[in-house]
Amino acid sequence: MRLTLIASLFQSVLSLQTSFLTDSINLQDYTFTENYGLSDEKISQLFDLHKFLVSIPSVSYHEQGIGGKLFGYLRHKGLNVEKQDVGQGRFNILAYKGSINETKVLLTSHIDTVPPFFPYYLSDNGTKIHGRGTTDDKGSVASQIIAYLDILDELDDGDVSLLFDVGEENGGDGFKYVAEHIDYRWDTIIYGEPTENKLGIGHKGGYHGAINVTGKAAHSGYPELGINANKILIEFLYKLQSHELPYDNILGNSSLNVGLIGGGVAGNVISPNAAATLAFRVASDLESFPHIVQSTIEQTTGGEHIEFIGGKGISPIYFKNDIEGFEKIILGYGTDASAVTKTPPKNSILYGPGSIHVAHSAEEFVSTDDLIEAVDGYKRLIRESLK
Ligand SMILES: *[C@@H]1O[C@H](CO)[C@@H](O)[C@H](O)[C@H]1NC(C)=O
Ligand SMILES: *[C@@H]1O[C@H](CO)[C@@H](O)[C@H](O)[C@H]1NC(C)=O
Ligand SMILES: *[C@@H]1O[C@H](CO)[C@@H](O)[C@H](O)[C@H]1NC(C)=O
Ligand SMILES: *[C@@H]1O[C@H](CO)[C@@H](O)[C@H](O)[C@H]1NC(C)=O
Repeated sequence: MRLTLIASLFQSVLSLQTSFLTDSINLQDYTFTENYGLSDEKISQLFDLHKFLVSIPSVSYHEQGIGGKLFGYLRHKGLNVEKQDVGQGRFNILAYKGSINETKVLLTSHIDTVPPFFPYYLSDNGTKIHGRGTTDDKGSVASQIIAYLDILDELDDGDVSLLFDVGEENGGDGFKYVAEHIDYRWDTIIYGEPTENKLGIGHKGGYHGAINVTGKAAHSGYPELGINANKILIEFLYKLQSHELPYDNILGNSSLNVGLIGGGVAGNVISPNAAATLAFRVASDLESFPHIVQSTIEQTTGGEHIEFIGGKGISPIYFKNDIEGFEKIILGYGTDASAVTKTPPKNSILYGPGSIHVAHSAEEFVSTDDLIEAVDGYKRLIRESLK
């Protein structure tokens, strides 16, 4: 008990001493067209925090650095901050005003990014901010925090909390932890992901699996003596990619990505093994996907040598999107919302700055206008959710 107290005192002293935004921005370098009622000081704070977050590499499984810094930053702002220990030294961060961690509304986004890291830089005329995570998802993290701090005085204890999770881009460990270990009862969850500051209508679910073909090696001059695993895999993948997939009026077509393929041992050997990953985006009818794969295996020559290792899959998700003053957008990607199935909130909302079309690419950027507008958007969504 005593030790914990000393440790936590020590921690708070440390956090006060840390200089959080070491490399402060100069607002004159940034160009934007509208301030959405935010003072220059607040806009500086926004760009500062955003730069601070983007400058810390945080590829999935390596989020400890950014987590520690963000923990300190939020404490420094006077919030109550808790770490949710996800394992292997990784943690989500829950922050809230006052002493009640159970809130009506949760504002959440993720602090991990896809690889590789790209450093922060500002376009020549100051309108675009480039670098890994500028949009996905540190644009949302920064604008959610600034929005929250800006309306803190309006909020009562138990109204709104912030949750910044790890692993969203790979494995989903952060929200899996929440789903399994947190006794949550949020009425509304506002997820921050790049939606071009529009309200996400919904997104596809997913179905993932792996194909493993076991053949038999032989001299390439005597194919009849072997079983060519590569050949079987190629035919299977060709047939699967030609297969029609379930369609939904709102979410559109389901799709398939074969992201990894491997096979064989040498150019002059009949390949004894081959494997591929299957990643479907599911627009509807999740149950049909195992059957599609199975029936394609049956239609493939040598299909009996194919082993399919398939998962459970995730159904499509729909968000609340009928809120005045917001445009709507349909999205092709998944979010943490798929993990929150134990006690689904009354409302889930998906909203954030930047476009998914540049996220995950080397050209990732967010515009200064989008970041500022998102602060306004989040404030309006919080107020709407507390009505
Ligand atoms: C900034 O440069 C981009 C091209 O990189 C251009 O499209 C945009 O209009 C410029 N904006 C301003 C305010 O100069
Ligand atoms: C709030 O704290 C209690 C006690 O530590 C815990 O059981 C619960 O899961 C927490 N709720 C949230 C939303 O973090
Ligand atoms: C694929 O099959 C081979 C041979 O049967 C086996 O050694 C390997 O573990 C399998 N791979 C997976 C991912 O199941
Ligand atoms: C959906 O897929 C079908 C083929 O399976 C294609 O003809 C159609 O154009 C696609 N629709 C959209 C909206 O992409």
